[in-house]
Amino acid sequence: MINNTFPNRLTIQSLTESLGAHPDFDEHEDVALCEDPQTGLRALIAVHSTKLGQSLGGCRRWSYDDTAEAITDVLRLSKAMSYKHAIAGTARGGGKAVILADAAAEKTPELMRTFGRFVDSLSGRYITAEDVGTSVEDMLFVRETTQHVSGLPVEHGGSGDPSPMTAYGVYCGILAALAWQAGLAEDDACNDSVVNNRVVAVQGLGQVGMDLCRQLHGSGARLIVADVHTDRVGQACDEFNATATSPQEILSAPADVFAPCALGAVLSSDSIPQLQATIVAGAANNQLREDQDGALLHRHNVLYAPDFVINAGGIINIANEQPAYDRDKAKSQTRKISGTLWQIFKRSRELDQPTSAVANELARQRLASCPG
Ligand code: NAI
Repeated sequence: MINNTFPNRLTIQSLTESLGAHPDFDEHEDVALCEDPQTGLRALIAVHSTKLGQSLGGCRRWSYDDTAEAITDVLRLSKAMSYKHAIAGTARGGGKAVILADAAAEKTPELMRTFGRFVDSLSGRYITAEDVGTSVEDMLFVRETTQHVSGLPVEHGGSGDPSPMTAYGVYCGILAALAWQAGLAEDDACNDSVVNNRVVAVQGLGQVGMDLCRQLHGSGARLIVADVHTDRVGQACDEFNATATSPQEILSAPADVFAPCALGAVLSSDSIPQLQATIVAGAANNQLREDQDGALLHRHNVLYAPDFVINAGGIINIANEQPAYDRDKAKSQTRKISGTLWQIFKRSRELDQPTSAVANELARQRLASCPG
């Protein structure tokens, strides 16, 4: 039941026009700031594009240095969501929200309800979900004040934690990259046997990384793993017969595939020459420190599965939540990530261009070809 009786009026300010000259402004349709002294909420929502459908993207809660940093983040993240949806074919557009975390504004139920009112003010042009710093449980509070929320717990009719589907998409992407490199036919782009006895170095054993290890181990892959939490490393060694290495050495581990599943900006002019793996395929967002690092990978003959293509399983899962969640449908759509990557690898070879550039261009074309 949506609660429409509120004690106070929210202060919502449109920033769309004033941000026209911002370097990260890309004809975003809406950017708004909400401030609510009562709960301490300060949040931004950016709708990059609704050409392909209502915009859908998570709500990140993060401690930013200042509002300017938060604006840059929300502009970039919402545009990246447009590209991710366009490539994944979810019939959704790109949007994102950020809550500026502050010691004086704890993440209370009331704060999340107020955030829901902010979401509701966009009348469905933006659908929110969990992200870094927010949880599927937080979305239950958001749901009290808006219906435009996804990623709810399974017991509440939602799709639950998106991580297992993200891991499945990364697994399919690794299969595609190995099959492509081995010169197999496209029909084998998602064939489990290709990973048997191959070595995958997994950086980060969190929600996605651990599940990825489980799937890889199940298909006979050999694993090298690293995490700053040694208990997680121990678990992977016990359960999946993995070999442990340090967070410093995982990048140069003797592996066929390097799967970054921890932090962003892990691929740079410093780190790329250290790679022993000839494939990079992992879940982390924003893996390239600079755009030109995609070209550096290409020059080093490293086959890179662009992050926003390979890690789309989670958002595909969430996009399948309404009107009624269908896990099988979400899984079969996620499996198609292997075919999409195959097309990107093919085009990259034909044009002799980095896979990252090819993926960006493909997303731009899909957005441009849509009349909406
Ligand atoms: P998580 O927070 O559960 O796991 C991250 C893991 O990386 C933690 O175990 C952490 O200890 C470890 N880690 C941190 N710094 C490290 C370092 N220097 N070396 C080795 N390990 C380190 O996060 P989650 O959900 O597994 O996501 C992983 C990545 O995938 C993140 O970049 C996230 O943005 C991205 N992603 C996640 C999605 C999801 O559905 N969970 C969807 C799309 C992208």
